[in-house]
Amino acid sequence: MYNIDITPNLSIIVAIAQNNAIGKDNDLLWHISDDLKRFKTLTSGRTVIMGRNTWRSLPRRPLPKRRNIVLTHDEGFCDDGAEVAHSVAAVLDMVRGEDEAFIIGGAAVYRQLLPFVQRLYVTWVYSDFDADVYFPIIDLSVFGKVSESELFTDSESGLDFRYVEYERRPTLKSAIFG
Ligand SMILES: NC(=O)c1ccc[n+]([C@@H]2O[C@H](COP(=O)([O-])OP(=O)(O)OC[C@H]3O[C@@H](n4cnc5c(N)ncnc54)[C@H](OP(=O)(O)O)[C@@H]3O)[C@@H](O)[C@H]2O)c1
Repeated sequence: MYNIDITPNLSIIVAIAQNNAIGKDNDLLWHISDDLKRFKTLTSGRTVIMGRNTWRSLPRRPLPKRRNIVLTHDEGFCDDGAEVAHSVAAVLDMVRGEDEAFIIGGAAVYRQLLPFVQRLYVTWVYSDFDADVYFPIIDLSVFGKVSESELFTDSESGLDFRYVEYERRPTLKSAIFG
């Protein structure tokens, strides 16, 4: 088993539709330039962790000014600018000691790493989308909302969206033992 205490530095950053959709045909569902700028600001200078499908979907690889870690089972995988991890345990090892590392998708990687993250940076997009990948339902007994932006409307797409941050609630163990 993994030791959950070793990863207080791990965050998820994700944009989620009202129906929890996050992607289709290995692509994003919308283009909100303000959200992309915010993604760049938050992740620049940090480590970003992604699955191989998300890596493949990037218009520009690697993401500049960031350490790019790519998860794949393929032992032969190698690509310029990608550090490769073959398991969740390997990822947790690779980011140990960093101030903050970001899980940037996609669905398979979010699902597996959600149990280990401390913080969620969610862009909620208030429309339903036809999709083939979804973010898990956020359990509000596990993650508490710590900040919420005003409601914005993207001038190009007309989509309404909001930035919400969640923090893992202290467990009974951490409340007692610190
Ligand atoms: N809305 C958002 O914020 C957002 C953000 C990112 C991505 N997305 C979307 O999400 C979709 C992609 O998600 P996805 O679930 O299809 O793919 P993914 O999570 O990006 O990548 C899945 C791949 O990662 C590798 N992998 C996953 N878990 C692993 C493990 N434990 N050990 C080793 N390798 C592992 C496997 O690669 P191999 O098959 O090579 O073994 C697997 O096929 C796209 O539509 C993308 O646009 C949305």
